[in-house]
Amino acid sequence: MDNFVHINANTRYCGLLGYPVRHSASPSFQNAALSFLHLNWRYLAMEVHPKSLFHAIEGAKSMGFIGLNLTVPHKETGFKLANKVNPTAQILGAINTICFEGLNKDGEWLPIRNWKNDSPVEVRSVGYNTDSDAIPASLKENFGFVSAQKSILILGAGGAGRVAALRLSAEGAKKIYIINRTVQKAENLAEEIHSHYPGTEVILQYPDPSEKVDLILNATSLGLKSSDPIPLDINQFSMRQAKYAFDMIYRPAETPFLTMARQSGCQIANGINMLLYQGAASLELWTGLPAPIEIMRKALIENIYHN
Ligand SMILES: NC(=O)c1ccc[n+]([C@@H]2O[C@H](COP(=O)([O-])OP(=O)(O)OC[C@H]3O[C@@H](n4cnc5c(N)ncnc54)[C@H](OP(=O)(O)O)[C@@H]3O)[C@@H](O)[C@H]2O)c1
Repeated sequence: MDNFVHINANTRYCGLLGYPVRHSASPSFQNAALSFLHLNWRYLAMEVHPKSLFHAIEGAKSMGFIGLNLTVPHKETGFKLANKVNPTAQILGAINTICFEGLNKDGEWLPIRNWKNDSPVEVRSVGYNTDSDAIPASLKENFGFVSAQKSILILGAGGAGRVAALRLSAEGAKKIYIINRTVQKAENLAEEIHSHYPGTEVILQYPDPSEKVDLILNATSLGLKSSDPIPLDINQFSMRQAKYAFDMIYRPAETPFLTMARQSGCQIANGINMLLYQGAASLELWTGLPAPIEIMRKALIENIYHN
């Protein structure tokens, strides 16, 4: 932390609201980036009960916070509470990033970082979904993978699986297979994809055993605990039929799903880059500066794997 600027009366804040939040690695890599950028800002993690989310966001607005990240379980409620949302987040119905904007005397909304000595006439919250940007970014970095014309098997249709399926469809995936324990959620997701991205074929079962897929993506929480079963039914589909396997889980670094995929000949990657890129995109929205990716990556890896 060579560029560390001590907290004083001019320090500005951004932060993460979640419930729970104490496991989060975001403060480590966001503060490393703020320090590198020599900003007198801090990134805080705050445990906020769902019933207090509205007051927490309004409080941050009143206290001149630059912006917020929202994590489980606040992403959908945050979407409803935001004063404005960007078009990508509008389709997803969920946000993980808020930027506060201030209204100046000429009626223009500008990022709140622009206010240093005076106060805006009014402050509003603008919502974004940088999780969505992070999925293609990490697939690109890990595998050189782009989804256009690709065939993808997604395991899980919860919050993260839904964002992945919609984003990969938006990027032109040819076929998306979706498997979820609660079938109704997969059916609802298929309908959303049909209505927004009719060019993507959605199939709510495993591919034929002889069919090849480009990517298998685990977006279930199976693998977080060592006792969890593998999220793929290997009696229905073999990993040998896939080229790449991506697990959104990053702790443990290699889940049994990834081990099996590696042993089956797939190229594998975990979700660490997804975490990194969603944070980097949030930081860029708040600061208007390019994120120091390698500084953030180093701090994140240190926090997750060497603590
Ligand atoms: N790397 C990153 O930056 C990043 C970001 C977001 C999420 N993630 C990871 O992605 C995973 C999903 O997160 P989320 O936010 O989507 O959570 P979520 O909304 O709670 O969804 C959980 C998913 O896992 C499935 N699941 C849970 N327990 C299961 C079981 N026993 N058997 C079969 N399926 C089960 C759920 O199926 P049902 O619908 O049937 O309940 C659902 O599809 C988590 O491991 C999370 O840590 C990583």
